[in-house]
Amino acid sequence: MFKIIDGKKIASEIRKEIAEEVAGLRSAGKKVPHLAAILVGNNGSSETYVANKVKDCEEVGFKSTLIRFGNDVVENVLLGKISELNNDPDIDGFIVQLPLPAHISEKRVIEAIDPQKDADGFHPENIGRMVIGLESYLPATPYGIVELFKRYGIETSGKNCVVIGRSNIVGRPVSILLSQKGMDATVTVVHSRTKNIADIVRQADIIIAAIGSPGFVTEEMVKEGAVVIDVGATRITSTETRSGFKLTGDVDFEKVAPKCSYITPVPGGVGPMTRVSLLRNTLMAAKKRSVQS
Ligand code: GUN
Repeated sequence: MFKIIDGKKIASEIRKEIAEEVAGLRSAGKKVPHLAAILVGNNGSSETYVANKVKDCEEVGFKSTLIRFGNDVVENVLLGKISELNNDPDIDGFIVQLPLPAHISEKRVIEAIDPQKDADGFHPENIGRMVIGLESYLPATPYGIVELFKRYGIETSGKNCVVIGRSNIVGRPVSILLSQKGMDATVTVVHSRTKNIADIVRQADIIIAAIGSPGFVTEEMVKEGAVVIDVGATRITSTETRSGFKLTGDVDFEKVAPKCSYITPVPGGVGPMTRVSLLRNTLMAAKKRSVQS
């Protein structure tokens, strides 16, 4: 019988741990961590993600600031705000919610963030440090996935892990973390140009699906007893929900789950862990800054 990996529950436990630490900081007369989020435009998914991130901050006792720009904001204005946040001593960490409108360079925006305030772990300095195993802010989703393996006691050492997708924010960094000492998986990354994806995925002890293509992973692609981590979160219109849409993963859950040892649901699997990773990075940033000041 397969086990559901309950990201929602684990994330809630971690938020309690963080809230206790924040209460400790507060009672010691120290500043509470402060996370800022920049949201450009009104993409529905981004609105929801950022609203949830602000809510998480409230729950653990962090201060949070939401900064909004219209879809037509010019790049220099956005870069100016980033510079302001870099220099604001009250801000411990901040994020710029992606995707950005096409006229803005994500690369320039990410490179403008002070690596020490990079709560998303997207800056090349943090990515570089992660690659060679130095302490860094880890990209939120890969960090959350690694934590799920740890908290569920899922063995990764020597396992064949296939990552589907090579994005800078999920596929590529999670492939690096899982191959590092301590995690010790044998990792294969497959992508849009890979030949015979199904044959490769079928060899996997651990599958991480991160392409944003609903139902891409079918039962024929999954080995009996595999661990399946579904990072997909595509909004599909639905008459079943009040919001008029539902989040859909990259895995055909109903058909695939019976073949698995463990599987993450969508929603309630990886998503809450991504959010909690952001809190962990912000807490780390705040602690480092309080040592420096
Ligand atoms: N868009 C999708 N996932 C993320 C994330 O983890 N951080 C940011 N900033 N944008 C995203």
